Amino acid sequence: MRAMVLHGHGGMEKLVYEEAFPEPRPGPGDVVVRVKACSLNYHDVFTRRGMPGIKIDMPRICGLDLAGEIAELGPQVEGWAVGERVLVDPRNRVEGGLMGETIDGGLAEFCLARAHQLVPIPDKVSYEVAASLPVAHGTAHRMMVTIGKVTAGEKCLVLGASGGVGTGAVLLAKMAGAEVIACSSSAEKMERLKEMGAHHVINYVEKDFVKEIWKLFEKPTRRNFDGGVDMVVNFTGGDTWVPSMKCLRRGGRMLTCGATAGHDPATDLRYIWTYELQILGANGWEREDLTLLMDYIQEGKMEIPIDRVFPLSEAREALRLLEDREVIGKVVVVP
Ligand SMILES: NC(=O)c1ccc[n+]([C@@H]2O[C@H](COP(=O)([O-])OP(=O)(O)OC[C@H]3O[C@@H](n4cnc5c(N)ncnc54)[C@H](OP(=O)(O)O)[C@@H]3O)[C@@H](O)[C@H]2O)c1
Repeated sequence: MRAMVLHGHGGMEKLVYEEAFPEPRPGPGDVVVRVKACSLNYHDVFTRRGMPGIKIDMPRICGLDLAGEIAELGPQVEGWAVGERVLVDPRNRVEGGLMGETIDGGLAEFCLARAHQLVPIPDKVSYEVAASLPVAHGTAHRMMVTIGKVTAGEKCLVLGASGGVGTGAVLLAKMAGAEVIACSSSAEKMERLKEMGAHHVINYVEKDFVKEIWKLFEKPTRRNFDGGVDMVVNFTGGDTWVPSMKCLRRGGRMLTCGATAGHDPATDLRYIWTYELQILGANGWEREDLTLLMDYIQEGKMEIPIDRVFPLSEAREALRLLEDREVIGKVVVVP
């Protein structure tokens, strides 16, 4: 089968497009999915580069998020039929492992999954949209709703708002009735974020986002504990961490699920105690996040922004766009 195969950690040259990679054979409890769409995530960039503490056997097919139709059932699989439209939950919650990382993923014509990873796709949800959900929007849902408990009337600042998780955070905050302030790096991205419902947009490459927040909502001080925003969504880390604290009012929440620009930023504990800040982490998604998201889409309550769709042979270009911050929403590969 055709597949985009990782042969070692490093640059883009480690990802090789192959036309005769062995097709997967299903064992007991397995299904083979004919991949119809696979979305890319920043995690695919980290997997290609190599992440400390995570050992990956090579060769490996990348792509965590995939949707398709069941092509073959292994022995002992019940309740599923060939031809059914399915989303694969990238996490194997029973035996362990993550698709596209420690298990072969969706950048191929076929993909092996355990039957317990399958989630049915409702009829109004396309393969491209379903494949865009788990890692980015599933995590955004867990972070914003389950853990962050975003509520109507709150002021919610989102950094890196144009990416997969970022657009998810913007859409969910907006759905909850919050006032959304989206930070992004270009005029085009800011325009799209306004179309998605952001109330305010800040170009944080050209402007100091802390000062912009103070202009909008006043500076939080010991005399004005109500200045600033209620929540900051920060999965960027690096030199955005301490400035983000300076945007929060007393009792404000900092939500994080990642660190695109650096996982060990300087911190300033004075802000945490003086303003009684809560630092809340979110890691991944639960099955319920995925089914809820598909319900929202099925019911027309949510539209998932997909920037571009590439053929499998051009998956490297799709990943380059992501790495170079040239994507608004999700980038999808169709085999
Ligand atoms: N823990 C989990 O379960 C989990 C799940 C999903 C994602 N994550 C993490 O969350 C982060 C975002 O993931 P994603 O898939 O949404 O990524 P993405 O689609 O590439 O979006 C990331 C956004 O961050 C902004 N950004 C700021 N500094 C950047 C930098 N130095 N390099 C690249 N982008 C930068 C970019 O927007 P602007 O150009 O507008 O600034 C970009 O659109 C990653 O760190 C990822 O590993 C964690």
